[in-house]
Amino acid sequence: HKISLIGAPSDAGAGSRGSSMGPEALRVAGIEPALLNHGLDVEDRGNLSGPHNPWDESSGGYRHLDEVTAWCRVAHDAVYETLKRRRMPILMGGDHSLSMGSISAVARHCREYGKKLRVLWLDAHADFNTCDITPSGNLHGMPVAVLCGFGPAELIELGGVMPATPPSVYRLIGVRSVDPGEKHFVHKTDLDVFDMRYIDENGMHATMERALAGVDADTHLHVSFDADFIDPLIAPGVGTPVPGGPTYREAQLCMEMIADTGRLGSLDIMELNPAQDVRNQSAALAVDLLESLFGKSTLMRKRL
Ligand code: ARG
Ligand code: MN
Ligand code: MN
Ligand code: MN
Repeated sequence: HKISLIGAPSDAGAGSRGSSMGPEALRVAGIEPALLNHGLDVEDRGNLSGPHNPWDESSGGYRHLDEVTAWCRVAHDAVYETLKRRRMPILMGGDHSLSMGSISAVARHCREYGKKLRVLWLDAHADFNTCDITPSGNLHGMPVAVLCGFGPAELIELGGVMPATPPSVYRLIGVRSVDPGEKHFVHKTDLDVFDMRYIDENGMHATMERALAGVDADTHLHVSFDADFIDPLIAPGVGTPVPGGPTYREAQLCMEMIADTGRLGSLDIMELNPAQDVRNQSAALAVDLLESLFGKSTLMRKRL
């Protein structure tokens, strides 16, 4: 694969400052050499630019809607153009609202190339709020809803068609914090959610087999990795930590099983917050997991 790293240093969609430093934390943790070691062709396209975080109050159910929209537009354009150049975009966030930009671009690419899209949303949260039900107004709690067509006009139309994706393309994994109104909306929309209870009862292996079922040679697999997916005991560097997440071993297995499909087409690494981190350990862990996602394995494995 040919990979393009794209930094998106914005925290305008989050409830606390700091994820804007995520791209640099990933560079300091060695994201580029880790990928080069796997024999991949990597270019770091540097950081996108956009508006500053104004640190305003929420209005009409949204905080910083204009700023988030501006950032999502530049993220959309960069990801869309990267895919057009037949390279794999890795969007380095930044808060998770930026995935409205990347995934609307990926969906557009899939429509043009006749590919099926599957999105694995690895997150402690469902990110399925709307302005009517959000407890915070923070847009990083809304990207899945917006991509499914529930949100403000300027965001739901980012990728040219509305909705960017049907709910059926998503598999949410690792969820353990859903707001009351959001919970109803998740059920009403019939989103496919593998929450922590599901993982505890069935194990990560069975969970990933189900989440990846139907992924075939015509599938473009997009992974949207929110760093708060991982248990905060080992990944404290996030803005919205929730206890009880996947362990190191569960997270590694998750990445390895995605790698085994050979269908990874694009990736977001979001919500890393160096202001909350301890000696950059969460960014280092993200890079470690990334290596597994790109096929690093302890021993060669027989194809079953
Ligand atoms: N559900 C909460 C909210 O909407 C938290 C969302 C956290 N999202 C994230 N991408 N970290 O405010
Ligand atoms: Mn989250
Ligand atoms: Mn998220
Ligand atoms: Mn490929």
